[in-house]
Amino acid sequence: MYNKKYINTKLSKFLIFMNQEEKKQKVAEASLEYIQSGQVIGIGTGSTINHLISLMDKVKSKIDGVVSSSENTTKLLIEKNIRILELNEVGRLPLYIDGADESNMHRQLIKGGGGALTREKILAQASDEFICVIDDSKLVDKLGNFPLPVEVLQISQSLVALELVKIGGRPVLRENFNTDNGNVILDVHNLEILEPIKMEQSINNLPGVITNGIFALRPADRLLVSNSNGVDVIEN
Ligand code: 5RP
Repeated sequence: MYNKKYINTKLSKFLIFMNQEEKKQKVAEASLEYIQSGQVIGIGTGSTINHLISLMDKVKSKIDGVVSSSENTTKLLIEKNIRILELNEVGRLPLYIDGADESNMHRQLIKGGGGALTREKILAQASDEFICVIDDSKLVDKLGNFPLPVEVLQISQSLVALELVKIGGRPVLRENFNTDNGNVILDVHNLEILEPIKMEQSINNLPGVITNGIFALRPADRLLVSNSNGVDVIEN
């Protein structure tokens, strides 16, 4: 039999989860207004973006197609009968919309909770405008509370892990997970990310690293942040 305390804890966790899902849905909806007719746009990965995809019936007739950041997103877009294009076919993108695991006020991000960070970083780099959609629980003063995902070639996993320990991190191999590119992910705990650009560059310089989840060299241009009262926009 469950006691009252157990049930209350479960219930409050469920309510927090529901509240966050509502915020994700709200911020996804707010991003729709930035999608213009005749565009091929980039779409990211994750539960916030899944809300956006479910709302895309509202805009799918006016766009020319989507470049997707992951196999999961591609599958959902195909179910919606949305045309999928490859980045190599279109060159650059006018707009890329994606979520994040953390953002600071400079729109520098940690991404990769869903493991799609490399393709996401490519699409962000290829886009003229990058809109990031988060709820207010992800807005932080300093990046690094969320463990930093680092995509690594499997053969270099232990070498990279040793290097990450030297800079103060505690890398943990993401279990039973391979990226869409066939690599592994190290989730790095305890990193103090005081200078996001420098840390992004230095981790990317380690042999065997495909990329890491700091998006500071190419931050978001516009950050949409949902809270209980609405959606705030943080931009240049
Ligand atoms: C996937 C990502 C996601 O954008 C990030 O993990 C946020 O996900 P969610 O919207 O589910 O909270 O970077 O690689």
